[in-house]
Amino acid sequence: MKLVVANESHFKYAQIICDTIGESAKVRGTGIAKRTPEYIQKKLSNGNAIIALDGEKFAGFCYIEVWGHEKFVANSGLIVHPDYRGQGLAKTIKARIFELSREKFPNAKIFGITTGLAVMKINYELGYQPVTFSELTDDPEFWKGCQTCKNFDILTRTERKMCLCTGMLYDSEKKEKDNKKKEITSKSFKRLKSIKETLFLKKKK
Ligand SMILES: CC(C)(COP(=O)(O)OP(=O)(O)OC[C@H]1O[C@@H](n2cnc3c(N)ncnc32)[C@H](O)[C@@H]1OP(=O)(O)O)[C@@H](O)C(=O)NCCC(=O)NCCS
Repeated sequence: MKLVVANESHFKYAQIICDTIGESAKVRGTGIAKRTPEYIQKKLSNGNAIIALDGEKFAGFCYIEVWGHEKFVANSGLIVHPDYRGQGLAKTIKARIFELSREKFPNAKIFGITTGLAVMKINYELGYQPVTFSELTDDPEFWKGCQTCKNFDILTRTERKMCLCTGMLYDSEKKEKDNKKKEITSKSFKRLKSIKETLFLKKKK
């Protein structure tokens, strides 16, 4: 299995990507934003997508979308062909697209909306947190993507505050602060331990 950053040479896979996304949505019975082969081709050509191939056979796909003047990016359209599911491929693709997003858009918050448990699990492991829609991009173009989802009426009725999807967000700035806090906690703990050792262990000698 090879995972690569997609380019024009992968245009021939646009149709199978759309078909696999559409068929899987039908099977799941949940809503999904529809994508055309032309839309997928755009994603394949701008260096913002990862495609997984088993030889020449299509195995999986995911792409980056940029919103709100690069303040936000979303990792969207994750799909694994049914023949390759249950082997950790979605996890690997998501990790690669996450890495690519951080490389290309280091200052952006990374987010996604999903009804899928598998995606929630993967995102959580990558460091995403569940959030309300108010924390996500307010770029109307992003939310327009939901128009083709069968649950769009819910999103409209709630004035875009909630829907069946769960919003998940990776905020690199907040993550760094949290890591620093953890570092401080671990440093303080080590210092405390050493003070205690000096006090108590020396006395023992
Ligand atoms: C969802 C999908 C991408 C998962 O692909 P996959 O390669 O089989 O997933 P992985 O093998 O990497 O599994 C990742 C994790 O999700 C879990 N998982 C996979 N499919 C699952 C499912 N249908 N329901 C619940 N959990 C699932 C796995 O057990 C694994 O969890 P673990 O690390 O705790 O063991 C694939 O089934 C698919 O393309 N589905 C249709 C499209 C879709 O739903 N896309 C998401 C749109 S929001």
